[in-house]
Amino acid sequence: MDRYLVFGHPVRHSKSPFIHTLFARQTQQELEYGLAEPAVDEFAQALRTFFDQGGKGCNVTVPFKEQAFTLVDCLSPRAKRAGAVNTIKLTDDGVLLGDNTDGAGLVADLKSHGVTLADSRILLLGAGGAARGALASLLAELPSELVIANRTHTKAQQLAAEFHDLGPVIAQTYEQLAGPFDLVINSTSASLQGELPPLAPALIHTDIAIYDMMYGASDTAFISWAKQHGARQTMDGLGMLVEQAAEAFTVWRGIRPGTKQVLRELKRNLGAI
Ligand code: ATR
Repeated sequence: MDRYLVFGHPVRHSKSPFIHTLFARQTQQELEYGLAEPAVDEFAQALRTFFDQGGKGCNVTVPFKEQAFTLVDCLSPRAKRAGAVNTIKLTDDGVLLGDNTDGAGLVADLKSHGVTLADSRILLLGAGGAARGALASLLAELPSELVIANRTHTKAQQLAAEFHDLGPVIAQTYEQLAGPFDLVINSTSASLQGELPPLAPALIHTDIAIYDMMYGASDTAFISWAKQHGARQTMDGLGMLVEQAAEAFTVWRGIRPGTKQVLRELKRNLGAI
């Protein structure tokens, strides 16, 4: 049977096996999908061994995405732009292709929630790996402006300069931000510590869409905060997780699974798997 897995550390609580097993059942694909948690300095060896032993493809998550970028034989254009790889496929020619489906997953999830990106003014919070992975896909939707704000302003400036050729992207400090924005995407890891990015509440209004790339069994700190300040449309990153997985599954198997039912089941089981 064709073998796939996700590399990460820690990875025990990954939802990817659950998601891909449901995709495989739904599309009647014969495959198995597991977990691998190599020590941080043993990822390269573990990856080689997996493919030497007949593995067909894998996902890569924190903290290995940047390292995976350097270990594959060739890169998709979107992985090259992201500077990180979250999906690897062994091609029929024996080539390890590195791809990145995170940005496509985010955009697919936003669209499935009815968020319009074309001509919209987007605020992206954070300038780490998650922001970098999202930028090309967001700019491809032709927003009127995309503003990056980050605690460490120089990182936002670097990112804006790097993606400037793809569209109207600028960096501003949190203090410089002036509304209205149509969509705020939180790519910071602040919610992990129960913290909030230092965003002025006045930037939140009833018609704004709020997206937190983090997710949990209950609202993230950022989503709770945005709701308190009047945001009516809030979304967390669980949908992005399912959509990036669907994109990876399509890369591997050439068939696109449906995501709605899987997302419903995942929500029902959140915390239990
Ligand atoms: P990831 O790969 O998830 O993006 P990362 O590369 O470590 O992780 O980036 C984390 C991002 O969250 C950074 O933009 C970080 O800001 P700094 O560049 O100033 O470190 C941001 N971040 C983390 N905690 C934050 C907090 N409490 N408030 C605001 N931003 C925060």
